Amino acid sequence: MPVQMVTNDDLARVVDTSDEWIAERTGIRQRRIAVEESASHMASEAARRALENAGVEPEALDLILVGTTSADHCFPSAACEVQGELGAIHAVAFDISAACSGFLFAMNNLQAFIRAGIYRTGLVIGVDCLSKLIDWKDRSTCVLFGDGAGAVVLQASDKGIQHSVMRSDGSKWQVLSCVSRTNGNLLNGRMPEPGYLYMNGQEVFKFAVKKVPECINQVLEESGTDIEEIKYFILHQANYRIIESVAKRLKQPMDKFPMNMEYYGNTSAATIPVLLDEMNREGKLNSEDKIVLSGFGAGLTWGATLLEW
Ligand code: COA
Repeated sequence: MPVQMVTNDDLARVVDTSDEWIAERTGIRQRRIAVEESASHMASEAARRALENAGVEPEALDLILVGTTSADHCFPSAACEVQGELGAIHAVAFDISAACSGFLFAMNNLQAFIRAGIYRTGLVIGVDCLSKLIDWKDRSTCVLFGDGAGAVVLQASDKGIQHSVMRSDGSKWQVLSCVSRTNGNLLNGRMPEPGYLYMNGQEVFKFAVKKVPECINQVLEESGTDIEEIKYFILHQANYRIIESVAKRLKQPMDKFPMNMEYYGNTSAATIPVLLDEMNREGKLNSEDKIVLSGFGAGLTWGATLLEW
């Protein structure tokens, strides 16, 4: 996580907003903003900690996948930068672009490679640095996001990922988008300029509260799992009201839905691995616990994964 913390009150000095408005509508009170840190620096740091925790050497990695939409460079990928930074000389590395679903999609991709017998050990990172894509004069979006990274190591095993569902609806791409660069070239005489994040908040809200419970139910049904067996639902940390609404639709108690957006805001692809890591380090996850991860975001993209810890 970046060092620099920005509170709601700090933002209220820049745009017309208040701690009360932001906290009531989103559950966010502060976020970290990268000043010195780059996306690849945050990703490498998260990766080092995950490898250390798993007792795996960088040289043992076959594959590095990074879920991100805000890498430092258009090319090379953040994954290649991380591979170089870690000295993971045997790993092939590339990024997966699925916005806030990026970590989940990357993890499911790695799992597919492992299940197919192609690779044995891999690293999945979710990292985003959306602060550089935000219009800091737009109060409807600038209060929501933070920067950060989280990572997990995956190895061939009977435990771990049991089943997953991934979905996309490209017909609604305009709901949440960011132009990488405006069209500028020799022929139109304009220079390409950076674009900013645009969001229709209410449409995103409606999409999330409908699609997240749907895909969680699908993953449970297809794996023959009773919802009461699930210890935790680790959802993308965009907004506590979305999570409350999902819990209600699933008829599950709120204490099964851990949250940390209060401290970090919406860190996009990083929210799920960061929360998973916090829970693991706090000793809240025990062997054989069944956990559902669920992400949603631009694309539109969404999905759910059933894990056995
Ligand atoms: N501070 C104060 N007022 C704000 C504000 C802010 N930061 N942002 C917007 N407003 C104002 C609007 O201008 C509007 O004012 P008006 O009524 O005078 O026009 C009013 O608050 C209501 O705006 P609205 O957009 O209807 O608010 P909302 O209840 O839908 O809440 C979100 C806005 C963004 C919090 C909400 O739509 C949401 O959480 N959506 C999901 C977003 C998300 O999670 N995105 C990431 C997905 S990966």
